[in-house]
Amino acid sequence: MNDVEDKTPVPLKRVPQHVGIIMDGNGRWAQTRGLPRTAGHRAGTENLREIFRAAVDFDVEILTLYAFSTENWNRPPAEVRALMRVLKRVIDNQLDELIESGVRICHVGLLDGLAPIVRKKIQHAEESSRENNRLIVNVAFNYGGRAEIVEAVKGIIADGLSTDEVDEERFSEYLFTAGLPDPDLIIRTGGDMRLSNFLIWQAAYAELYFTPTLWPEFHRQDLREALVSYQQRDRRFGGLDSDA
Ligand code: FPP
Repeated sequence: MNDVEDKTPVPLKRVPQHVGIIMDGNGRWAQTRGLPRTAGHRAGTENLREIFRAAVDFDVEILTLYAFSTENWNRPPAEVRALMRVLKRVIDNQLDELIESGVRICHVGLLDGLAPIVRKKIQHAEESSRENNRLIVNVAFNYGGRAEIVEAVKGIIADGLSTDEVDEERFSEYLFTAGLPDPDLIIRTGGDMRLSNFLIWQAAYAELYFTPTLWPEFHRQDLREALVSYQQRDRRFGGLDSDA
């Protein structure tokens, strides 16, 4: 990132309100440098500050970050432990600064299955930032889209809703993202072109942006490029162009 570029006003006309990011490529970033994969996850946290700041500057209101999926439990135990440590460290080292800059942290995912200490940190981050509203950062941790849908169905059954009472809007209220608008844009770094179980209900009409850039190298300028690409898209939500 260079300072001149950093201060240039961004000519963005139509900024997505909610951006989801699949932060992929940490492992490859590390391996190409002869480092352990866990070094890639640490590097992947280094640029979070910059991305949070850029999101605020670009007027993004909600960021949802895919940090640990329900499928990531299948990784070697040492890597799973490292990802847990990374989350704890982000909360320990960055929470005060995030709160100071108006960020609200929300957890998206299952608390069940996480160690009590990890759960506590997440709950602490949520509680101590709940008054903030400059930028909502949803951390999708122990998150899977299918698991989320199954949980929603269980909640609906537990509440005894009748079939007449269930529609798309009502269903959405049972998702982890209840109360939030659907993502307008989903960015995936690292070159793969799939959603990997990320926000699969909510992404029904999201614009998708794939970049080969590995997550530790994804900076403010890359986020800006994704937003510029978004503003060139024609969102029809199944309808026709307004001038058609
Ligand atoms: C995918 O890269 C990345 C992850 C599984 C973890 C992402 C986590 C962070 C960036 C840090 C934590 C962030 C927060 C918000 C607490 P990969 O390991 O699959 O990379 P590869 O495809 O190159 O192997």
